[in-house]
Amino acid sequence: MGISPQKITVRPSSDLDVPAMLAIYLHHINRGVGDLGAYPMEKLEAEDLKRRRKNLRNHRLPHLVAEIGGAVAGYAYVVPFRKRPAYRYTLKHSIYIHPDYLNAGVGRTLLPALIDSCAAAGYRQIIGYIDSANQPSLRLHEACGFVQVGLLPSVGYKYGHWSDSVMMQRALGPGSSTPPGDWVEAAAPIGIVEEIG
Ligand SMILES: CC(C)(COP(=O)(O)OP(=O)(O)OC[C@H]1O[C@@H](n2cnc3c(N)ncnc32)[C@H](O)[C@@H]1OP(=O)(O)O)[C@@H](O)C(=O)NCCC(=O)NCCS
Repeated sequence: MGISPQKITVRPSSDLDVPAMLAIYLHHINRGVGDLGAYPMEKLEAEDLKRRRKNLRNHRLPHLVAEIGGAVAGYAYVVPFRKRPAYRYTLKHSIYIHPDYLNAGVGRTLLPALIDSCAAAGYRQIIGYIDSANQPSLRLHEACGFVQVGLLPSVGYKYGHWSDSVMMQRALGPGSSTPPGDWVEAAAPIGIVEEIG
């Protein structure tokens, strides 16, 4: 059953959210859903997550949580699409919802909030890579205005089989209809931002 969007609050994440975000992330890793495979090398310590979250915030890259009744019900964040400066207005995102709140409308609240934050920060395009078997994620992204721009066959390997990635993209704010602002030049070098989750 869906949760009334009024009951879902979206806000920037804080260090206090790290244990809850980590638990959500580990749950999904262990189930091997999305672009995650249960893979022994995928170890994410709380301190790493804190450090990386701070890195993202320092670079004006939104990192948000959805809260229901004071508890973290999901989180979403962006990283640069590519490190090279030409791509500085384009982002890549991830979103993870708490197992207790799947298919209840949290993604439908959180992803639009991430999109709005990124547009407000001056970014122009956002891209997600989604496992072709991940119907909930494909549905969520379509509902939030993403369109499929690519299919990358057999780029993943988990649970004994190759998996395809669907590349979905959406314009942010004016997209490519106007030149970008000049704020990103002033930001610290994007290359030091690391990806989490
Ligand atoms: C993918 C994910 C973020 C979707 O978030 P969510 O809060 O569960 O989704 P919502 O309840 O907001 O629903 C969004 C859309 O997906 C559909 N959907 C959600 N779960 C579904 C399911 N299990 N089966 C079919 N459709 C589903 C909803 O019906 C809705 O579609 P609609 O707007 O056309 O009605 C969430 O399932 C998740 O965290 N999955 C594990 C991690 C992951 O895969 N992250 C994304 C990696 S790209």
